[in-house]
Amino acid sequence: MTSEEMLYIEGGQRLRGEAVVQGSKNAALPMIAASLLAEEGQTILHRVPPVKDVIVALEVLCRLGAKVEYDEAEGTAVIDATGVDNTALPEELTSRFRASVLFLGPLLARFRRAQLKEVGGCLIGQRPVDYHYRGFARLGAKVEAERGGMVMCAEQLQGAFMYCDLPSHTGVENLVMAASRARGESIIENAASDPEIVDFVEFFTKMGARVEGAGTRTVRIIGVDKLHGAEHTVMHDRLDAGMLMMAGSITRGDIALKGVCTEHLRVFEAKLHQMGVETIEKGEWMQIKGPEQFSPINVTTTFYPGFPTDLQPGIMALACVAKGDSYIRETVFEDRLGHIKNLRAFGAKASPEKDRLVIVHGPAQLKAAKVKALDIRAGAACVLAGLAAEGRTSVSQLYQLDRGHVRLEERLTGLGAKLERI
Ligand code: EPU
Repeated sequence: MTSEEMLYIEGGQRLRGEAVVQGSKNAALPMIAASLLAEEGQTILHRVPPVKDVIVALEVLCRLGAKVEYDEAEGTAVIDATGVDNTALPEELTSRFRASVLFLGPLLARFRRAQLKEVGGCLIGQRPVDYHYRGFARLGAKVEAERGGMVMCAEQLQGAFMYCDLPSHTGVENLVMAASRARGESIIENAASDPEIVDFVEFFTKMGARVEGAGTRTVRIIGVDKLHGAEHTVMHDRLDAGMLMMAGSITRGDIALKGVCTEHLRVFEAKLHQMGVETIEKGEWMQIKGPEQFSPINVTTTFYPGFPTDLQPGIMALACVAKGDSYIRETVFEDRLGHIKNLRAFGAKASPEKDRLVIVHGPAQLKAAKVKALDIRAGAACVLAGLAAEGRTSVSQLYQLDRGHVRLEERLTGLGAKLERI
């Protein structure tokens, strides 16, 4: 795949049919990192989505000395990390995704040493990792900036009280991993409570870790002597589910999705209902019917269980076709409104106000546009607008979409959309 690939969308098709939600990227990534902690046995992960960030994370494992077999079609990764001996993370890989920071906790816990240079990822804000480093330091590690990167080492990690100023998703996962082999008990206060953290901890517990309180604001970790391989099936991806639900909705379609966990998407689903979307649960499937006329919406993104920041670009695309003014405020990341420019290219009327508030004046008759996927979720918003717009839209910088969604164009084509990747 190269960055010259383009996605062409012939808009205006009502989606119909069935699609399956992929495994969760943001749950699989900490599990892949945690597999480094298994000094005995293999780790077997099922429903691992073959998105770019996951493939690169598996490459990182290999470069550190792990044996990895990954069957993309099956979604099964078999990891043997018993022979890992390298603690310096390869910059050319870590510079491609921000979750590479998640390898630090396990390396520090197992080898008492870790080294990271550049971290990449979506450009949606400054995205500091100070909570991670501060937590490692509280566990007794020496954390220092060295030769353009960070080096951390410790003789012994000691259980400690740690906290996040804001409930950080990967922050909690990283600190749980770092504390898993520390002596005694650790507490993380003001922890994030996202479902991916709960799934990750379920897996980590199978590896022999002792963690309590995942899914709440206070997480307790009791250090253990050793961790071992384990087998786990990754949860479904709530963000991929949300994207497909919005695709069905914005095209005024009628689709069925397998793998939507409504418990993880309650606020988002309620917002769709307010806009006029119908959702009907039928066993493992969810039916989604888009309305002929969308109602406007008020959305404020916040930490789980609030409205997810990752679905904000997508719901803004839906707001563009709603009749009336929608108010959308981003509070999690300081720079996650770049997609406004893209939506305007489709003819939407969206004006940024102060304090990251966007007022969308709808309804707009969306017209095809030539746009660039700025990051995974902003790219999803472009696809959504393209599906609803009249004419042929082109989306470039597809690698961004590929970082988070598996064969999105294939699944949308299966639902009757007219898409072509060239
Ligand atoms: N923050 C700090 N310091 C830190 C850590 C976080 O100030 O050390 C701040 C951030 O700047 C932000 C807030 O805390 O304002 C929350 O950020 P968080 O740490 O929760 O984000 P993250 O862990 O880096 C994960 C997801 C993101 C998702 C966010 C928010 C993974 C691999 N990434 O990022 O997913 O947007 O949580 O839910 O789990 C995506 O999938 O497209 C994506 C960007």
